[in-house]
Amino acid sequence: MKSVLLICVTYLACCLASKDESIKKFPDDFLLGVASSSYQIEGAWDEDGKGVSIWDHTVHKAPMIGNATGDVASDSYHNLDRDIEMLRELGVDTYRFSISWSRILPTGFPDHINQAGIDYYNRLINEMLKYNIEPSVTIYHWELPQALQDLGGWTNPLVGQWFEDYARVVFDNFADRVKLWITINEPKEICMQAYVHVVNEPSSYGSGITEYLCAKNLVVAHAKVYHLYDKEYRHKYGAKVGITFSTGWYEPANPNSEADQYLNTLQHQSLIGIFMNPIFGDGGFPKELSEQVAEKSAAQGYPRSRLPEFTDEEKALVRGTYDFMGINHYTGLLVSAENVPQYPSPSLSDDVGANLIQLDWWKPGSAPWFRWMPNSLYKLLKHLHNAYPGVEIYITENGWASDQGTEDDDRVNYIRSALDQALEAVEQGVKLRGYFVWSLMDSFEWGGGYSERFGLYDVDFESPKRTRTPKKSAFVYKQILKTRSLDHHYEPESSVMKIDEGH
Ligand code: BGC
Repeated sequence: MKSVLLICVTYLACCLASKDESIKKFPDDFLLGVASSSYQIEGAWDEDGKGVSIWDHTVHKAPMIGNATGDVASDSYHNLDRDIEMLRELGVDTYRFSISWSRILPTGFPDHINQAGIDYYNRLINEMLKYNIEPSVTIYHWELPQALQDLGGWTNPLVGQWFEDYARVVFDNFADRVKLWITINEPKEICMQAYVHVVNEPSSYGSGITEYLCAKNLVVAHAKVYHLYDKEYRHKYGAKVGITFSTGWYEPANPNSEADQYLNTLQHQSLIGIFMNPIFGDGGFPKELSEQVAEKSAAQGYPRSRLPEFTDEEKALVRGTYDFMGINHYTGLLVSAENVPQYPSPSLSDDVGANLIQLDWWKPGSAPWFRWMPNSLYKLLKHLHNAYPGVEIYITENGWASDQGTEDDDRVNYIRSALDQALEAVEQGVKLRGYFVWSLMDSFEWGGGYSERFGLYDVDFESPKRTRTPKKSAFVYKQILKTRSLDHHYEPESSVMKIDEGH
């Protein structure tokens, strides 16, 4: 009898131990949060003195899928209290939101500051701080004031000054309470989509030229704002200032093919390195890409490369303008030199000349570009750690695109897998400091309208109040936050969401 008992006890102890070992802990200072952006959630597009942004302009000219606009969106402008309540229910450390340039500067310039806009963000920040939720603020998430777009937007070299003037208003009003600033969200989407394809505003620009002008002006604009904070605000408030990139993971379709390897390097450089290298590397655009575009441009009869150069002065201005690197990661692509499609010429795609592939067996999300590439986040983090040693990284967006519904097991699995990869990277020495789920709630998904849902909370876009309901993923994320650990086996027991004591 004794020995049976002993065997049972040993068996139990061993099982419990191995179960515990499978529960990974987050480092104490690791920030866990959720993210959103102003145009996607706020609505109130023309209320209380707000000016017109390029997105207001675009959706009224040519609405997105399902005639969607962000005119009302999740109506967060009128639902601030409920949004705060959701953050408290989840128990997040931090909330990443963005400021709408035209809500606080209706003309785009600081000739007139819209107090109602300032009041809205002040209230949001103050309410968050009341409940110990750190505001992480994006200064620009794709909403250029239309008046500035009419002057050429990000292709106008003066855009850096305009952005700096806007950022000064932002810092003057909010810097005393913000510890994490993201100057610009996803330069690639701003320059390579908005200035080339029809999915993003302003859409009708000539490709092969405008995206490169945008890239240079945007990097300089970021640097100016970094220096502005450094000179005038850092000594008082000591926040971290960085920039967030959209970072798909690219790898050669055939790892043994030299052609695939070379194209993979160009692919990385054309969409990621083009923005990272000037800031985190030697101050200029990446070498291979610069050579490739120069060669192509010459063959096409251009007197100089379509990819502009940085002067030495500009390189010095831009180099090192970061306290951290923000990355948004969702998926990846395989890069092949075979069956390369005929791209329009000139264009960035033609300059690189790669065939980009997603495999059929990668699980599809509800967005056409989104398939679950296994382990891509881990590989990306290791790559960035090796390419830019010592740089602190925050995953400022990561999440799953689903259809409408609250039973979102795919999102639960995707987020758990991402956090697993993130923790593995931390163990391997990557200086990863935080993770934000995209998104707090369902919202206007740009070209995808309301057909692609990314929220932890479902939003009923048919209801006047835009009622929010927690999805299964919200309960799972809450548990992760509460235990500060990742337990793959946890199943929520109730569907009632409450604010825990202390939140
Ligand atoms: C953007 C978000 C967007 C998300 C999902 C990111 O590229 O920053 O605004 O909703 O991807 O598409």
